[in-house]
Amino acid sequence: MSTRHFLRDDDLSPSELLEVLDLADAMKAAPFDHKPLSGPQTVALVFDRPTLRTQVSFAAGIAELGGNPMTVDGGLAAMGSREGVEDVARILGRQAAAIVWRTAHQSDVVTMASYAGVPVLNALTDEFHPCQLLADLQTVREHTGRLAGVRAAFVGDGACNMGNSWVLAGASAGLHVVIGAPDGFSPDADVVAKAREIAQDTGGSVELTTDPVEAVKGAEVVITDSWVSMGREEEAGDRLRIFPPYGVTEELLAHAEPEAIVMHCLPAYRGKEIADEVIEGPQSVVWDEAENRRHAQKAVLTWLLDHS
Ligand code: NVA
Repeated sequence: MSTRHFLRDDDLSPSELLEVLDLADAMKAAPFDHKPLSGPQTVALVFDRPTLRTQVSFAAGIAELGGNPMTVDGGLAAMGSREGVEDVARILGRQAAAIVWRTAHQSDVVTMASYAGVPVLNALTDEFHPCQLLADLQTVREHTGRLAGVRAAFVGDGACNMGNSWVLAGASAGLHVVIGAPDGFSPDADVVAKAREIAQDTGGSVELTTDPVEAVKGAEVVITDSWVSMGREEEAGDRLRIFPPYGVTEELLAHAEPEAIVMHCLPAYRGKEIADEVIEGPQSVVWDEAENRRHAQKAVLTWLLDHS
C-alpha cells in the first residue's frame, strides 16, 4: 500500500470523504473508544505560523487516540534555511507515525509528503485548509441533516485558503457552493475547474459572483473568513477598503434562508468580515465548528494510517 496524505481537499475522493465524515461522527459520539495510536505512537505537529485551534485540537485528538502529540516549533527547526524540507521530512518520518504541518507554501507540504514515508497532513497553507473543511462539512451535516444539495455561500476573500478549500471540498460533498467575492478575489481558477469537474459526478456546483447579496440568496450556510489572511498583512490597507460590502451583517444574512447557519473558521475580526451580533447570534455555529476540528482530524488521521 502506498502512503496516503491529506494535502488538499481532493486528496480524498467523494466517497472517501464521506467515510471520514462518518468516522468523525462516530468519534464525536464516543471520543475515547478509538485507540489506533496506542503505544503510544507519536504524531509530529509542526507550526511555522500562528495557531490556536489547530494545535489544541490536534494535540487533544491525538491524546484521545492513545498517541503522543509532539509539537515542533517551526521557528526553531528553521526549515529551508538550517536544513531542507527533504531532510526534515526523513528525520520526522523516522520518529513519528504521521506529520501535521502548517506552513506558507503548498509546494513545501508536497515535498514533505514525498520524503517522509508516513502520512502528511496539511494544517493550513496559503492555498488550502483541508482539515478545517472536514470540520466544516461535519458541522453542516449536523445542523442541516445532509450535505448533497445544500447551498453554501462563502463571502469575502475567496482567493484565500478557505475559498479554495470550500470549492473543492464542497463540490466533493455535492454542495452548491457560491463564492461572493470582489473582482480579483475569486478562488484559484485551476481549483475552480477541478471542483467543477468533481461536481459533475457528485451533483454539486460552483458559482462565482461579485455580488454578496446574490451570493447569499437562498443559502442554507453562510461562511466567511478574515479579509487579511496570514502572510497578507502588508495588503491590509487595500483589503480593508475593498471588502466592507462583503461583511456578514444581520442585513446581509437576511437575504439567506431564515434558518441559515453562519460559519467562520476563526479567528474572527468582529465588525469587519462578521458583525458581532451575527457571530454571537442564534444562527452562528462557529463554536461547534471549532470543536469539530478535533473529531474530524482524529478521523482523517485514523483513516490515513489505515490506508497507508
Ligand atoms: N484564511 C485564514 C485562515 C485562518 C485559520 C488565514 O490563512 O489566515
